[in-house]
Amino acid sequence: MAHSSSANLGPGFDVLAVAHSVFRDEVEVRILGEGSLKVELAGGDPLTNTASYAVLKMLENLGHKVQVEVRVRKGIPAGLGLGSSGASAAAAVAALNELLGSGVDRNTLVKYAMVGEVASSGSPHPDNVAASVVGGWVAVTSVEPLKVVSIPAPRDYLLVLVVPDLKLEGKTKKAREMVPRQISMEDHVESTRRLTSLLVGLSSGNRELVREGMRDNLVETARLPLFPFYPEVRKSALERNAVGVCVSGAGPSVLILADRSTDVDGIRDDVRRISGLRAEVYLTEVGEGVKVE
Ligand code: HSE
Repeated sequence: MAHSSSANLGPGFDVLAVAHSVFRDEVEVRILGEGSLKVELAGGDPLTNTASYAVLKMLENLGHKVQVEVRVRKGIPAGLGLGSSGASAAAAVAALNELLGSGVDRNTLVKYAMVGEVASSGSPHPDNVAASVVGGWVAVTSVEPLKVVSIPAPRDYLLVLVVPDLKLEGKTKKAREMVPRQISMEDHVESTRRLTSLLVGLSSGNRELVREGMRDNLVETARLPLFPFYPEVRKSALERNAVGVCVSGAGPSVLILADRSTDVDGIRDDVRRISGLRAEVYLTEVGEGVKVE
């Protein structure tokens, strides 16, 4: 079982993420036989599903000649920026690790799970899988070798997710193509300022720094056509005293960081009134890492 997550958190594109307890995927992995390598996916093509694709690549890498069946029970809505594909892959590689008794450490599990992202978005990115594997607030501090660290954020923060009724086929791939390939040094420095503010704010519990830091100047702007309602949701949430607001991963969902002083009911009302937006609003907490039963 692995939870949903929000990646990026504003200025931390492909680096930061947080797991949420609201949605979960369950993945069952069974060994059917030995002698040759084969991965089957119950009800689907194993090469286009993140869970079975990650299992295949992990088995290849570990040199195991087994036939395996992967069964995915989706609880996380797909295509909405909630780390759905990453959670399936995280649950699958953790289950396989347990089944084979491979003793693979959590950083390596993230590495295997992130390969699964190729099956859904065309490129491997570690942020969602890092949150689903490790749980809580995470930062990917190295890709080669892969390293994830936990960010010691205040425990009493609540997460509000605005999840639009809006599905775009191949959305993550498209959203990744919209990210600028080059940025100016000025924009880079501004982004680093915000990222620093966010990280220092989260780890020291300084609300103002989190608020100032959770503002992206590079990726969210470039992707705005995918979630044109975002500026209005953001404005409303900040007026209702949210701690911070960002697009959840590649969108279109929005993550609002809240505490006891945030008027969550007011945010719900505002969201209902935004024209052109039909969305569910979930109030949830920071989620735990992957679990194998
Ligand atoms: N960091 C990734 C992106 C997350 O924003 O493209 C995608 O789920």
